[in-house]
Amino acid sequence: MQITFHGHACFELREGDITALVDPFLAPSNPAAQVTADEVDPTHVLLTHGHGDHIADAVAVAKRTGAHCVAITELAHWLKEQGVEEVNGPNLGGTVPFDWGRVKVVPALHTNTTPDRTVMGAAAGLVIELGGVTVYHLGDTALFSDLRLIGERESPDVAIVPIGGHFTMDRHDAAYACELIGAGTVIPCHYHTFSRIETDSEAFKAEVEAATESEVVLLRPGESYEVK
Ligand code: NI
Ligand code: MN
Repeated sequence: MQITFHGHACFELREGDITALVDPFLAPSNPAAQVTADEVDPTHVLLTHGHGDHIADAVAVAKRTGAHCVAITELAHWLKEQGVEEVNGPNLGGTVPFDWGRVKVVPALHTNTTPDRTVMGAAAGLVIELGGVTVYHLGDTALFSDLRLIGERESPDVAIVPIGGHFTMDRHDAAYACELIGAGTVIPCHYHTFSRIETDSEAFKAEVEAATESEVVLLRPGESYEVK
């Protein structure tokens, strides 16, 4: 599987004919992204929650490409109201099976509103299994002890972890989260995009690699990582 980082919490997971775009937040609304909503061509759009820095481009991309969307129930209803047709809306604990793998919606400790500030219920993390590789995108979250439970149940190969603080856990809580999750590879996100979430990603990498068996891969926006 190839994982491409578009900045902030936006990633593309690619394997064969499948491209899953997680939390589309692209140029120019995402100051870190190098591609616009017109330059991506996903087969699937997967959403953790409704904050603008996660779904700014979701409706436009889904309508243009016909991508199949997965989002937690209330957000899925909102997408349908915006005219998106192919939407699956499981609630926490629910799994959407695909012929290429699965997407499971798991808890995250965060809030959830749409860009017009309508309260949407819970926020989520996503466990995405594609081509035999399991990626756990934590979404936006604070540190919580059930990260260990999710790590035990899902055995993720890759954990995508927010580290920027203020809106999510900071890099120290995130390093502890990595101890709880136990993924082979950790990719940090949700930092550097705005001044309020500046952090030291190299220090995060050093702290995690000193305390765990996980390898931390630092990606710049536009860079990709091949999961072996
Ligand atoms: Ni958020
Ligand atoms: Mn966010």
